[in-house]
Amino acid sequence: MTESGASHAEVHDIIAKLKDLPGALLPILHGIQDKLGYIPAATVPDIAKALNLSRAEVHGVISFYHYFRETPPGKTTVHICRAESCQAMGSRQLEAHVKNRLGIDYHETTADGAFSLEPVYCLGLCAASPSMQIGEQLYGRVSADLFDCVIKSEEVSA
Ligand code: FES
Repeated sequence: MTESGASHAEVHDIIAKLKDLPGALLPILHGIQDKLGYIPAATVPDIAKALNLSRAEVHGVISFYHYFRETPPGKTTVHICRAESCQAMGSRQLEAHVKNRLGIDYHETTADGAFSLEPVYCLGLCAASPSMQIGEQLYGRVSADLFDCVIKSEEVSA
């Protein structure tokens, strides 16, 4: 199943705890991703078996929702807000800059495993649009220069 015995046991605990809920697939997928950071392909057969679904059905749901990751996330996740207020204040230009600077698109991870990039739809900082979150830290009124400055310090501290 997964690389480590601990992950294996954790996944089995999540499946066992949630499999009898109505519509158990999504809670199980969320539970596994919350615990491991992604949904390893090796967990799909066990999920399918527990829910009496085909592997293709489980995989179809994982790939339908962009929120679910099939690969481990980078050490730090960069979230760029794509909601209305931030878009009105230039988040599209910001996201183009971020993608170019990191060399990845949304839902991807840099080759060195340092950063993943994900969209988010409102960080509650609309008054300071455009906004982003890097790791646990929120930033408002984000310019390309501010992004470069923050990411550089993240790279130095990595
Ligand atoms: S719309 Fe971006 S923080 Fe609310």
